[in-house]
Amino acid sequence: MVMTTQSIAIRSARPTDGHDLAMVHDAAWRFAYRGVLPGAELERMISRRGPDWWGKAVRRRVPIVVLDDGKAVRGYVTYGASRVRSLPYRAEIYELYIQPEYAGLGFGRKMFRTVRQRLSRRGHDAVIVWSLAENDAACQFYERLGGRSVATADEPFESVSVAKVAYGFDKHTARSGAR
Ligand SMILES: CC(C)(COP(=O)(O)OP(=O)(O)OC[C@H]1O[C@@H](n2cnc3c(N)ncnc32)[C@H](O)[C@@H]1OP(=O)(O)O)[C@@H](O)C(=O)NCCC(=O)NCCS
Repeated sequence: MVMTTQSIAIRSARPTDGHDLAMVHDAAWRFAYRGVLPGAELERMISRRGPDWWGKAVRRRVPIVVLDDGKAVRGYVTYGASRVRSLPYRAEIYELYIQPEYAGLGFGRKMFRTVRQRLSRRGHDAVIVWSLAENDAACQFYERLGGRSVATADEPFESVSVAKVAYGFDKHTARSGAR
């Protein structure tokens, strides 16, 4: 794959990114969860998140950061308040996904760093990320970025329940943890 780095940007999502976000979501979720979640369930989850869903999310000002290579969006991160109030992390990265062909090139680390900087500017240095325990790529990614496993839980889907792990990122990794 030939790629130039000049035009690569990590920026806030725009309402016109709806189509691209749906494409990345579809490809990355199939890649990550095929064989982990039941096929019918995965298809339902993907079909719910079409271009309209994403366009609306951007217009509703859900924080979304995207990786844009000048041609299309190739990755995204969604983040906001932590869903688990009993853990000492006020902020959460809900989802971080990359188009599979663009994985392993350092873009995940760059997107993660951008979101941590944005959160840090709002006073949130302590950030939590949940990953399905079976998603080895994601677990190793968060460990390489300095995350510590701080909790486990079960994620209920419609027909199955799957183990998940929480990675905590503290103040000292907010600036240095992601190179
Ligand atoms: C997992 C994912 C987000 C990682 O992003 P990425 O751009 O591929 O990762 P980077 O190239 O920035 O790598 C950052 C670090 O994580 C490590 N890493 C990334 N993917 C890895 C993998 N599959 N296995 C082991 N380590 C991995 C890298 O070795 C690197 O560590 P190092 O720099 O210390 O050597 C991305 O591959 C992806 O979206 N995959 C498909 C969907 C998915 O599983 N998303 C996460 C769900 S929460």
